[in-house]
Amino acid sequence: MILKKKYNIKVDIIPLDLSSIDATKKLISILGDTNINIVINNAGIGDYGKFVENDIDKIVSMINLNITTLTQITHHFAKVMSKNGGGKILNVASTASFQPVPTFAVYSATKAYVLSFSEAINYELKDSGVQVCALCPGPTATNFDKVANATDVAHLSKGAMSSQDVAKAGIRQLQNNDMTYVVGFKNRLLAFASSINPFRKLTLTISANIMK
Ligand SMILES: NC(=O)c1ccc[n+]([C@@H]2O[C@H](COP(=O)([O-])OP(=O)(O)OC[C@H]3O[C@@H](n4cnc5c(N)ncnc54)[C@H](OP(=O)(O)O)[C@@H]3O)[C@@H](O)[C@H]2O)c1
Repeated sequence: MILKKKYNIKVDIIPLDLSSIDATKKLISILGDTNINIVINNAGIGDYGKFVENDIDKIVSMINLNITTLTQITHHFAKVMSKNGGGKILNVASTASFQPVPTFAVYSATKAYVLSFSEAINYELKDSGVQVCALCPGPTATNFDKVANATDVAHLSKGAMSSQDVAKAGIRQLQNNDMTYVVGFKNRLLAFASSINPFRKLTLTISANIMK
């Protein structure tokens, strides 16, 4: 409603549970081969806590949403965009993509997937006019912590960026055709440090301590 009023544009909303296994099929049956210029795979959830103590159904649902649906949507639209001469897909990853995160074990693994997958297919598609970007925000003030049962992890929300700033960074990233973009200077430093550190056990220990 806000978008419609403010920018005088047409907005169609298709309500779907994207964690359900047939969600993408439903979406494709509605949109078909419609030529879409920009796809943003933003929907995602986290699940805070020790892996063995967390609910396996929520874990599977998170994997379906963060990985399976994102992959299916990317597959369909990258194909359509290739056929039509180009387009852009923005997959929302995370700073959690850069290292394992104890107490966010499955979530960080799903985001490592999003980053690795997006970069690999961006390369595969380089001559097709289709750009696949991975946006990596750090802590952002949204509903994420509540849904992930992580409201007790106080430092996650401390210094969190606003969702507006993260969204603007994502739009700039698409305009600049940046394959991967980590939002925020401090987050870029941390992601860089994790990427170049050859001592995985040290990375893991630091990551575990940050979550305490
Ligand atoms: N917040 C952070 O600190 C942070 C940091 C790094 C990356 N991220 C990533 O940023 C993305 C957006 O999360 P957020 O921070 O904005 O959290 P959020 O406020 O909880 O928003 C999550 C979004 O995903 C949608 N969604 C969740 N489950 C869904 C389902 N089963 N089917 C369809 N849509 C579903 C929600 O739709 P409804 O509103 O309709 O429920 C909402 O639009 C996620 O991919 C998250 O992993 C967040």
